[in-house]
Amino acid sequence: MKKYLLLLIIIGTITSLADTIELYKKCAGCHGENGEKQALTKSKVIGGQEANLTAKELTAYRNGELDQYGLGNIMKLQTSILSDSDIEELAEYISKLDVNASK
Ligand code: HEC
Repeated sequence: MKKYLLLLIIIGTITSLADTIELYKKCAGCHGENGEKQALTKSKVIGGQEANLTAKELTAYRNGELDQYGLGNIMKLQTSILSDSDIEELAEYISKLDVNASK
């Protein structure tokens, strides 16, 4: 019984990681596959950025409360479909990106 539970947890983790990778694909167009690009030449490089900060920024963009370089509306649109847990998982994922990784 315990083994099945563990298996379920592992499958759950893998499924949610796959979802996050899928979600990040939308971001990669501007921020780079490894978060290595400055989006539209304006943003910071986000790969490896601390998860708490990223989550805070994404939530603020979603609420229309953040506009750092005059392009906050673009990020408002990008984050409008994200749930709180999407944001947390994306932030965690981005914190582990290696901007020096080759594609
Ligand atoms: C169409 C291009 C585009 C896409 C797609 C996009 N972004 Fe952005 N992102 C930007 C721009 C432009 C900014 C700077 C906005 C501003 O003026 O504050 C930004 C800012 C950010 C920042 C803050 C960086 C900083 O400089 O502090 C984070 C974090 C971020 N984006 C994450 C994401 C995530 C996660 C996704 C996918 C859900 C995403 N972005 C999709 C263009 C994009």
